[in-house]
Amino acid sequence: METVVSGIRPTGQLHIGNYFGALRNFIKMQYDARCLFFIADYHALTTHPDPKSLRENVRSVLVEYLAAGLDPNVATIYVQSDVPQVAELQLLLSMHAYLGELERTPSFKEKARKQPDNVNAGLLCYPVLMAADILLHRADKVPVGKDQGQHLEMTRVFARRFNTIYNTDLFPESQAYNFGAELTKIPGLDGSGKMGKSEGNCLFLRDTDDVIRKKVMRATTDTGPTLPDSPVSEPVENLFTIMKSVSAPETLSQFQKAYADCSIRYGDLKKQLAEDIVASVAPIRERILEIESNPEYLKQVLGDGAAAARRSADETMCRVRELMGLC
Ligand code: TYM
Repeated sequence: METVVSGIRPTGQLHIGNYFGALRNFIKMQYDARCLFFIADYHALTTHPDPKSLRENVRSVLVEYLAAGLDPNVATIYVQSDVPQVAELQLLLSMHAYLGELERTPSFKEKARKQPDNVNAGLLCYPVLMAADILLHRADKVPVGKDQGQHLEMTRVFARRFNTIYNTDLFPESQAYNFGAELTKIPGLDGSGKMGKSEGNCLFLRDTDDVIRKKVMRATTDTGPTLPDSPVSEPVENLFTIMKSVSAPETLSQFQKAYADCSIRYGDLKKQLAEDIVASVAPIRERILEIESNPEYLKQVLGDGAAAARRSADETMCRVRELMGLC
């Protein structure tokens, strides 16, 4: 049976980029594979959150995972720091990770540019920790959004290197996964880039129907096509991209056709998009409210998840220690 692993940093509420880019794919796989899904609280520490808000965010992400449809009866759901073996594997992998390759990682360069006063070693080693998350359970598939593709490439480099040095086939070549299709990047509603918390352009799973409608209706567009088959500007392309993930294929092609023959009305496009997002998000929001009021259940899910994830981690770590000549 294949093993599937994925995770999310607890840095605030989950947005529809997280959901349509990664979480939804993971949920689709949980009944057909050995699935482990975790909350990456060690990774969140690179930006020095205050301890109280980190704890609250872990809880909030757990509630959102469960409300979105992760089923703790079939998938293992755990908090990264409840499985300290991951820190040990990171240490061991880091012995074969080189400064030059870590410094060249695009996400490191971007973070170093954005937070020049806090270029810490945790940030530099972020891809090694992420490789450890994945290799700890020897994952075959990793459902993530497009922004994580580079990290998956590095995970494969570290896995191949380990296998070659220690003459083993312990680690698989874990693949970033989206059902045979390209990895997704859900853009923001502000006309450029991706949807992200630090970009401040998110539609959250906890947003009410009215907030979703307001945010979508305010999305950036342009003055509209004046000639048949004109090229599509970035802000409008972004709305089509979101629609591709959220709406029925016929809905998307209907609006694309209207764009091509210049009959499109952006008001109609936005209204349809807003309603399709509401239809996906509203049931999740309702379950969030139910699950949040049951702390005992949340505690039990994390206790069971930590125990199962530690068992899986121990199997790998025994082999890793032996291969490297420890104990
Ligand atoms: P994070 O917390 O930034 O995002 C969690 C997941 O959501 C996806 N995502 C998106 N997908 C499409 N469009 C978007 N706008 C968008 N924004 C976020 C991300 O691609 C990701 O799949 N380093 C990871 C967390 C992590 C992890 C791992 C993931 C740590 N260890 C091991 C998989 C396996 C991160 O920061 O994701």
